[in-house]
Amino acid sequence: MAISAAAYTLTVVLCICSLQLLVAGAGPETLKLTFYAHETRGGPNATLLPAAGTGQGNFSALGWGSFMVFDNRLKEGAAADSKLLGRITGSGALTTIGGLPTGGVQVTSKFWFGEGSKYPGSSFTLVGTLSYGPAPWELIVIGGTGYFRGFSGYGLSAPENSTTVPPLFVYKWNFHLTKHF
Ligand SMILES: *[C@@H]1O[C@H](CO)[C@@H](O)[C@H](O)[C@H]1NC(C)=O
Ligand SMILES: *[C@@H]1O[C@H](CO)[C@@H](O)[C@H](O)[C@H]1NC(C)=O
Ligand SMILES: *[C@@H]1O[C@H](CO)[C@@H](O)[C@H](O)[C@H]1NC(C)=O
Repeated sequence: MAISAAAYTLTVVLCICSLQLLVAGAGPETLKLTFYAHETRGGPNATLLPAAGTGQGNFSALGWGSFMVFDNRLKEGAAADSKLLGRITGSGALTTIGGLPTGGVQVTSKFWFGEGSKYPGSSFTLVGTLSYGPAPWELIVIGGTGYFRGFSGYGLSAPENSTTVPPLFVYKWNFHLTKHF
């Protein structure tokens, strides 16, 4: 009698557990990721190009209409010799009449993950405004490919001053992504 009561209890417990597993499995999958963007703003290996408008060759002269293209390094850490995970490509424009101080840089950017990363061949794309107001700056992750298919969310970017030594500028990125399909 005692044994069958115990067995009954066990069965109930197991059922509740598997129910909970089922519920947990049905919930949205979330990812919290941290990466570092390494951007070189001059010299022979520059990764940020002021491509059109004012400020070509002189970042201090950027103004309304300046257009930039970048092919930055996506790294695991803030140090210059940190592991390379991929690249961050995109373009940005100064879209407000007052220039950088009145509207920052409006960007569209793709994070490409390469062989050195956990997600080789995958990517996600974000849009938003950088360098406007106090950091961190919040951008929208609109979607992804490969491993990141179905994910969207947001990314917070802030200058990583400890390892920024011009012309190298380092930014920390924290991503919060949720899988929707
Ligand atoms: C630029 O890149 C080349 C090739 O990787 C390298 O040999 C050179 O030292 C770099 N120059 C600077 C100034 O970083
Ligand atoms: C860069 O632009 C700033 C602001 O317009 C200007 O004061 C400075 O002289 C320029 N520097 C060069 C090297 O042209
Ligand atoms: C990092 O540098 C930026 C730009 O110079 C500055 O606005 C910011 O306050 C610095 N952040 C920290 C934590 O010192």
